[in-house]
Amino acid sequence: MKVLVVGAGGREHAILWKLKQSPKVKELYCAPGNGGISEIANLVPVEATDVEGITSFAKDNNMDFVVVAPDDPLAAGMVDALLDAGIRAFGPNKSAAVIEASKVFAKDLMKKYNIPTAQYEVFDDSLKAREYIRTVSFPVVVKADGLALGKGVIICNNEKEALDAISSIMEENKFGQAGKRIVIEEYITGPEVSVLAFTDGKTIVPMVSSQDHKRAFDGDRGLNTGGMGTLAPSKYYTEAIHKQCMETIYIPTINAMNSEGRPFKGVLFFGLMLTEDGPKVLEYNARFGDPEAQVVLPLLENDLLEIFEAIIDEKLDTIDIKWKQGAAVCVVLASGGYPEKYEKGYEIKGLDKAANSPDILIFHAGTKKAGDKYLTNGGRVLGVTAIAENLDSARQKAYEAVSLISFKDMHYRKDIGIK
Ligand code: AMP
Ligand code: GLY
Repeated sequence: MKVLVVGAGGREHAILWKLKQSPKVKELYCAPGNGGISEIANLVPVEATDVEGITSFAKDNNMDFVVVAPDDPLAAGMVDALLDAGIRAFGPNKSAAVIEASKVFAKDLMKKYNIPTAQYEVFDDSLKAREYIRTVSFPVVVKADGLALGKGVIICNNEKEALDAISSIMEENKFGQAGKRIVIEEYITGPEVSVLAFTDGKTIVPMVSSQDHKRAFDGDRGLNTGGMGTLAPSKYYTEAIHKQCMETIYIPTINAMNSEGRPFKGVLFFGLMLTEDGPKVLEYNARFGDPEAQVVLPLLENDLLEIFEAIIDEKLDTIDIKWKQGAAVCVVLASGGYPEKYEKGYEIKGLDKAANSPDILIFHAGTKKAGDKYLTNGGRVLGVTAIAENLDSARQKAYEAVSLISFKDMHYRKDIGIK
């Protein structure tokens, strides 16, 4: 089969790496991809958000299967367009992807179907939001409704911070249309766990749990990023909690989407907080997480293409999904300055030396090839994943590999996997 993956980051590299192991896959393509991805897939110079461009490419080049990995094209209806063109496409359609694309939709869904989440109010008028802020206790969380590159969530410790957040999102339109409406939410606490699940709308199969490290610096300090590293599985996510989540969150969510006439087929990502009152949903994503995919997929035993096909055909119940014993840690190597301003174009050294065992996987997030060299080409540059029998060894191996890689102003956290 000829398979196209849409996207350009470490998540897409991990998906392609896993798909490449499928005996059914003959040729891999990635749009637009990156330097590292070009080693295993043909790069297609079409942007991941270009619905028409991707659909025509897939049609004109006889792609048998397309995987849409990022949030924006899913929200824009890329899967719908591909299916309309007669191409098998993996990912939720537009009406189901709204579970990530609109936080107001997600919160209202949870309220309507009694799925545990933080208390909240929705506002489309900044004056009303300001009035409401005078009545709450702090901290509160102010969230832009729409997709905002992971930056639309602001934790406010006092009235001034909350009023500033309302003003920047609703009045200065910092996130454009995404900030037309906001959610103001109760602040909840506890360990945060990411659970990604395969679902065809009938059956839901959660993957091994994982934990992201979202802040830029050690000890969870600094700005929020797309994710500076991940571990899997999470020690907090016990069998008992899993059972509770199945009953109170996962199955009710699938049923709720069906009741709303929006069956969800794809990967549904539950951002959970394990509070003293039980697990609650912080957010839903309609896709694999990045860098969650870089620790979860290496632990998957099955053929990923087979799972994707079973989801499209609504036969997920026929597949026995198995996970490797052990653990995985992914350390993200970022450009100095990320998530704010950073330079690009620095040579990356030591990649061959670092990838010295099958248990070390180097996923490229923001690189490009120049001759036989790799240059930095983004904020997050690489994700170095190690697999081992337990979390401590995985962490140690990952950092050993990291110590062999260098580029100018390279920045990474030293405490990934110590959660
Ligand atoms: P989100 O994009 O919704 O996952 O939010 C980004 C981060 O903000 C989460 O990973 C949490 O650390 C934090 N966060 C979001 N909502 C809340 C909440 N209600 N209470 C406490 N922290 C939150
Ligand atoms: N790592 C979090 C996300 O992909 O949204």
